[in-house]
Order: sequence, then structure tokens, then C-alpha cells
Amino acid sequence: MLALVGEELSRTDLAGYPSRGLRLYTGRVKSFEALVIHNQPEALGELVELLTGPALRIDTARSETEALNKIRSGRVSVLIAGHRPPSLNGISLLEESIAHVPDALRILVVSDESDADYLDRRPNNEHPIVRFVGRPSERSRLVALVHEGLKLHRLVQEQRTLVSALGGKHRKLQNREKLLDVVVRERTAELEESYEKLKAANRQALFGLAEAIEAKDSYTKGHCGRVAAYSMVLAEAAGYPDDELETLEFGAFLHDIGKIGVRDSVLLKPGPLDEEEWLHMREHPVKGYEIASKIEMLKTIIPAVRNHHERWDGKGYPDKLEGEAIPLSARIVGIADAYDAMATDRPYKSALPLEECESILRKNAGKMFDARLVDFFCENHLGAIFDQRYDDEDYEDGYQDFDDDDVDVPIDVDDDVASSS
Ligand SMILES: [Fe+2]
Repeated sequence: MLALVGEELSRTDLAGYPSRGLRLYTGRVKSFEALVIHNQPEALGELVELLTGPALRIDTARSETEALNKIRSGRVSVLIAGHRPPSLNGISLLEESIAHVPDALRILVVSDESDADYLDRRPNNEHPIVRFVGRPSERSRLVALVHEGLKLHRLVQEQRTLVSALGGKHRKLQNREKLLDVVVRERTAELEESYEKLKAANRQALFGLAEAIEAKDSYTKGHCGRVAAYSMVLAEAAGYPDDELETLEFGAFLHDIGKIGVRDSVLLKPGPLDEEEWLHMREHPVKGYEIASKIEMLKTIIPAVRNHHERWDGKGYPDKLEGEAIPLSARIVGIADAYDAMATDRPYKSALPLEECESILRKNAGKMFDARLVDFFCENHLGAIFDQRYDDEDYEDGYQDFDDDDVDVPIDVDDDVASSS
């Protein structure tokens, strides 16, 4: 029995129930917001009468089955169910409705405080069921409860719609971001490919220049490549920055680019040079600098080109730089250049053996050359990379037996280097 409507009405047959509110809403299942369920038509009628108003559209059901059908097919914000087991189990009905309308306000109308005390121990707090004792004095409270529940339900719905819309926008942004990522990766790959091609073209152009230098003097054939190779192994042994190795390699290849401007009569002279010829020959670092400074892709190698004939003691040329004031690339190329000049046959001298070249380098360490670099070069026998006759196992003995007195004086090294590089 529903105490709201009184004992006498609760026994009335639903077939004769004439509720205006009931007729008004039963045909509009899709639009109702509250579903009132009771198996007693009087109670049902009273509840509908009580709750019907401009702010709430109501539908009704007389059984659990009918109620669940309407819950599944309609839009329900409030469920108000009587509880008269076994003919109507409002608790199980409201529990089952959670799966279909999780946000709805669920009210179980009981006739006494002691009814449905299970709800006091119910574990599911996420979807509460409000127990309401249906007395006439509580009518206004039920109406207020329903309207507050409706407001809350609408807020939840609005929030859900907003979150959904934001989620859609967020997904769109994520998709756009992924698309951009793909485009950026593709463009980066294309740029990297273009860069690699450009670098390859640059290398070819630089090697072409080096060949042009060597073509003037058949005796120095292969000299540029060997100087580059010695420079690279020395740089790596000395801990030269990895990202600068390529520039050093080009610098070493083209260190004598200024010889393009040296007269052939001087460059190709088989015998010793006179003073004027030496002066002309020693112009090649500055001539190289003038060439390199006018070509964008050669600007990074200027130090190796201009300063590879400087001496550690400041007596070199063209700038008479001293010690660490000499660019590191130029100090490396200077040693590689001197070593190759000593280790190869020239018109005016024969190639010196490895151990003798190393000995001369050591004697000139701290005078002509950076002593630290000479150590790296000699301790690791870096000059051996082009010496096919060199036997690594026998070398230590030969080096031990080497007589320093046999080494030529440093000035000869200087002249030798100058005349051949
Ligand atoms: Fe040179």
C-alpha cells in the first residue's frame, strides 16, 4: 500500500483508472523523464497527480517487466517505484535499472520506516537508491526531491555532453598531431636525403679540386689523400670532436689548394729552390686562404689551409702563430703533411723509413710540432697505415736500435716539407 493515497484507494482496480496525467504521457515514451512504477492503480494515480507539472513529463508502469521495457526504450531521469514484494520488488527493479539509466534518480517508496531496510546496508554507493516513506505529510518533500534530482541529472548530462565534445575535439587534435607527425617525418627524411646528396656532391667537388692540385705535380700524386688519412687517424687518436672530423678531412685534402697559384717553374722544379723561389712557394697558404675565403663551402677549412706551415715555436708562416694559437686542425695537418713528405720518394730524395720519420718528428716536437700530437702519432705508429713493408711485430726492436745521430737536422725537415707540400 502507498500511504500517500490512503488505504481505501489502494484497492481500486487500475482498469477504471482515469488519470488525466497518465493519458497525457503514456503515448510519448521517448520524451518522458520520470517513470512511476506501482502495481496498485490508486497509488500510481496519486503519484502521477502529485508529480505532474510543466517541468516534468511522466510515464507509468504497473509491473517490473513493463517498467524495464520502458526504461530500455525511453529517456528516464527519475524512477519512482513502489515496493510490494512478491508482486512488485521495487528494490530489484531499481537495481536492474542501473545498467540502462545509470544517472537516473532512483526513489523507492515504502509505507513504513522499517520497510526495505536492506537499502541501509546496500553496498553500491555509486548509484544510490533513496528510500522514501510515503505519508501524506511528505508529499511536498517528494516533489522537491524529484525536482532536485532532475536538476542534478541535467547537470550530470550537461557535464557528460561537454566532456564528450571536448573528447571529440581532443581526438581530432590528436589525429591532427599524428598527421603532422607523419608529414614532418616524411619531410625530414626528404631533407636528410637531399642533404646527403648535397654532401656527396660537395665531397666530389672537393676531391676534384684536390686532384687538380695533384695534377700539376705528378710527384705528389696521392699526397692530399694520404695527408687526409694521416690527419684523420691522428685526430681520432687525439680525441678530436667527432662532428668536426669531416671538416678536418676536407681541410687536410685541400691544405695545399693555394699551390694552384704557384708558378709551374717553381712548383715542378726538380732541383733546390733559390731564395726568390722559396718566397714564392711560401705564398701558397695565403693564396689558398684567398681562394677558400671566396667559396662558401671552403670557409670552414680556412685554418688548415692558411696555417698548416706554422711552427709551434712561432717561426713558421704565414702568420708566425705560436703554440696553441695555431688552430688544432692546422697542427694536425702540419704533422700529417710533414710525415708524408718524409715517407715518400721525391725528385730530390728517397723515402725515409717509418722509424726514421718518427724520430725526426720527435726531435722537432715542441719546436715545429705540437709535442702532444707527435706523441699520439708516434706511439700509435700512425704513419704505418700506408707502409706496406711495415711489420708491426718487428718494429719495436728496430725502433729500439734506432740511432738518433743518424737523423737529419730539423731545418732539413722544414725545407723538405716546404718543398714537397
Ligand atoms: Fe703546404
